Amino acid sequence: MGVVEFATSPWGQTVPIHVAFYLIWVAAIGGLAFLICHAIYVQFMAKKEAPAHAASVSPALAAGIPEKVARHSMAARLFHWIMALAMLALLITAFLPKVGYQFPWVTYHWIAGLVLTVSIIYHIIHASFFMDFWSIWPDNIDIEDAKRRWLRATGKPAPAPRKFAKYPMENKMYHLIIVLAGLSVTLTGLFMMKRVRTPFFTRNPYLFSDMTWGLTYVLHGLAGVGLIALIMAHIYFALRPEKFVITKSMVFGTMPREYYLEHHDPERWTVPQASSLGKAANGD
Ligand code: HEM
Repeated sequence: MGVVEFATSPWGQTVPIHVAFYLIWVAAIGGLAFLICHAIYVQFMAKKEAPAHAASVSPALAAGIPEKVARHSMAARLFHWIMALAMLALLITAFLPKVGYQFPWVTYHWIAGLVLTVSIIYHIIHASFFMDFWSIWPDNIDIEDAKRRWLRATGKPAPAPRKFAKYPMENKMYHLIIVLAGLSVTLTGLFMMKRVRTPFFTRNPYLFSDMTWGLTYVLHGLAGVGLIALIMAHIYFALRPEKFVITKSMVFGTMPREYYLEHHDPERWTVPQASSLGKAANGD
């Protein structure tokens, strides 16, 4: 029982055709098991005291932080929700037929795929030219602090980790993985559109060799199956009470000053001071 299914081409060559679809269940059940274990760990085993942080914020700086700290601009929120809808539509159209609910899914699927592709292109341009591009990638402080957290969690001495910049390390790692999975499905999916009938171009299943097509389908399927678990984890964390402030900021655009001061380092994520509000907004 391999993870890839093979077939014999008209020329007698054994070629991969797609992933084995039992992986849908591996991802869904594995994702669910992770959520349950995490919820049990947080509820019963994790230490309840507030995490230690290296530096505290000076009262003068804290006083200047506005009551509602801008976190996501309208453009960024729109991207997020359009992408979320497209993702869910893609998962539903791709996997329901594979688990027994038959319907003409391919057209809905590539339409949702195009919505996702356009929203990703928009996001890349927005993030590169209008947002702080580097804010979402792990930096040296994040890596050093991750080591410190690990040492302290395993009972070894280590200095206190610092507060986060705009994005916590786990959000940055999640973003990195979703970028890899998202680019894999969109790039392969765009080529796969050449295999199906669309109004954009003439269908041409001979564009690539059987082997190349097979590998394209396998990569599309593997990334797609991985996205089941990734999206499950994302929705779970978004609904967790301690992260709900972040989720609300993706709806309303802001987070309360108290949350900002507790979790974020104003020197690593500078926000406009209360006095300058109205002139500037720093929500990317
Ligand atoms: C969450 C993202 C996505 C998931 C989970 C997903 C999943 C899948 C799966 C499981 C298949 C069946 C493949 C097979 O039978 O081997 C498929 C087919 C297909 N996907 Fe996606 N996909 C995603 C994104 C996209 C995107 C972004 C596009 C286009 C831009 C796209 C275009 C296609 C096309 C055209 C097919 C049909 C190929 C055919 O029937 O020959 N997909 N997708």
